[in-house]
Amino acid sequence: MAVGVFDSGLGGLTVLDALTKRLPDIPFVYFGDNAHAPYGVRDHDDIFALTCAATERLWAEGCDLVILACNTASAAALKRMQETWLPPDKRVLGVFVPLIEALTERQWGDNSPPREVAVKHVALFATPATVASRAFQRELAFRAIGVDVEAQPCGGVVDAIEQGDEILAEALVRSHVEALKRRMPAPEAAILGCTHYPLMEKVFADALGQGVKVYSQANLVAESLADYLQRRPQFAGTGTQSKFLTTGDPASVSNKATQFLRRKITFEAA
Ligand code: DGL
Repeated sequence: MAVGVFDSGLGGLTVLDALTKRLPDIPFVYFGDNAHAPYGVRDHDDIFALTCAATERLWAEGCDLVILACNTASAAALKRMQETWLPPDKRVLGVFVPLIEALTERQWGDNSPPREVAVKHVALFATPATVASRAFQRELAFRAIGVDVEAQPCGGVVDAIEQGDEILAEALVRSHVEALKRRMPAPEAAILGCTHYPLMEKVFADALGQGVKVYSQANLVAESLADYLQRRPQFAGTGTQSKFLTTGDPASVSNKATQFLRRKITFEAA
């Protein structure tokens, strides 16, 4: 059995780390589309086509279930993939659902009307494409009322991370947090709505200041996958080997991944 994990580049490794800790017996095949990152500045058709191509590549590795460890693909492509493209014997899951479950403190299957939740002022940090899709606000509105979401498109951050430029990434994060705080001075919670951002989580938390609860997706997605596989074990595919695939240059992607994750990671060409 093996499960596929997809991201436009390095960000999904933050999710992969949590998945391997939570489900140590499952082989995971990671696919980073580094040659085409960042996705956050692409249009929806483009993101759909690239995400489908990557998912097909993961099927070839024996992964019938693919986690889109990428908010941009989850926001811009997932619904269309599920409705128009996916064969019945395959599954693709995104990263929004577990986050919204955690924020609204209710289960996904709970279809009761939206209700008031504890958190009222939420800062959302995401890529320009995720912010433009308004997918997060749409999903949240099905479950919660009275939540004010202020979204900050964090242009440049993914690029800086993909280039291995931690100093630029930090400067950009600080300026995006400042920009958001000018519009929402006292958020109670902040959502890191891009899987690259946990690589900068300390900087986000520091710039936001004390008293802001920072939600990132990795552990929430891991819990949710464990629960899913227990209910649907048939989707743990036939693959047997963990590996890291990239459309970029394997040596340079391996170096950057090793730098950000602070452990040795070796990619091979997809
Ligand atoms: N890590 C991705 C996300 O969660 C993609 C960012 C990008 O490629 O722009 O949105």
